Amino acid sequence: MSALPGSAEGTAVTGLDSSPVEPAAADLPPLTEQVRLEAREIIARYPQPRSALLPMLHLVQSHQGYVTPEGVALCAEELGLTKAEVGAVATFYTMYKRRPTGRHLVSVCTNTLCAVLGGQRIFDALSRDLGVHHDETAADGSVTLEHAECLAACDYAPVVTVDYEFYDQQDVDSARELVAALRRGEKPHPTRGAPLTDFRGVSRQLAGFDQYGGEAARAAAVDAEGAIGPTLAGLRLAAERGESAPPMPPRPPADEAEPAGTEPREATRPSGRTGETPEEEAADARVAAADNPAERAGAAQAHPDKGAEYGQPRGRQHAGTENPPAAEPATGTTPTESKES
Ligand code: FES
Repeated sequence: MSALPGSAEGTAVTGLDSSPVEPAAADLPPLTEQVRLEAREIIARYPQPRSALLPMLHLVQSHQGYVTPEGVALCAEELGLTKAEVGAVATFYTMYKRRPTGRHLVSVCTNTLCAVLGGQRIFDALSRDLGVHHDETAADGSVTLEHAECLAACDYAPVVTVDYEFYDQQDVDSARELVAALRRGEKPHPTRGAPLTDFRGVSRQLAGFDQYGGEAARAAAVDAEGAIGPTLAGLRLAAERGESAPPMPPRPPADEAEPAGTEPREATRPSGRTGETPEEEAADARVAAADNPAERAGAAQAHPDKGAEYGQPRGRQHAGTENPPAAEPATGTTPTESKES
């Protein structure tokens, strides 16, 4: 039977794909007392010490480039866990690496949308250029290549990330040039978001430590410009159509606040604006925003008050010349369609 990382066997399990965790290389920097102090700083952020495990594993990666047996032992000691418990977590998540990682981690999305737009071709080309397969590092130590499941940026497909920073709408040529630049020691600016650092730098950030030199550098990184046109397309359309999200319900007075652990009452109370509950207001808005009869019928079907006329505050229902639902002709149309005809 395989053993968990950090176990006496030195190599070991490792979760879903059973690939080995490599023992520490002779030239790996040790986890110093300073690292242990940083680990304790992370632990102090949480009410329960074991909640600190995930950022602590990132901390280990920021110093040693992957989750080493030494790192597993440190986490276990500081948290009062067994190495097996730490290993079980470290081997569950793909962001924790089981063998030394290159200076940069290049992730190519090969999930459905990216794949049909060329993600797999990009991965294959990079694989050939680097002479590696999934989760392997180029011989010069510059880049670890991996294929990734959906990176939650389908509107920019096909996407590649380097150290979790996005390079959008790539093709084979642009991705090859990107990786060639990384191997030359350059850091091409991501399409959006913070400037590129490297795998250890971003691991430190994920551990909750600042990787920037000062406030100005941090602000510049956080506020970095980027092309986010596709993401804002829905917002632009809504503005053109004069649509907006339903208002947030008002907060209850402090003396009406629910005791901890109970469902917030805002979810079921009338908002005070229309006499409807927030769910009904939101459902009204969905019906009113529907683009076509089919969408409208679907939204009406999901409305919590199916007997109502949708998209109107209660005080305005059945006003003017509109027919009340009982008088609607049996045409098979939805209540809203009848109302608009
Ligand atoms: S499928 Fe690639 S980002 Fe979603």
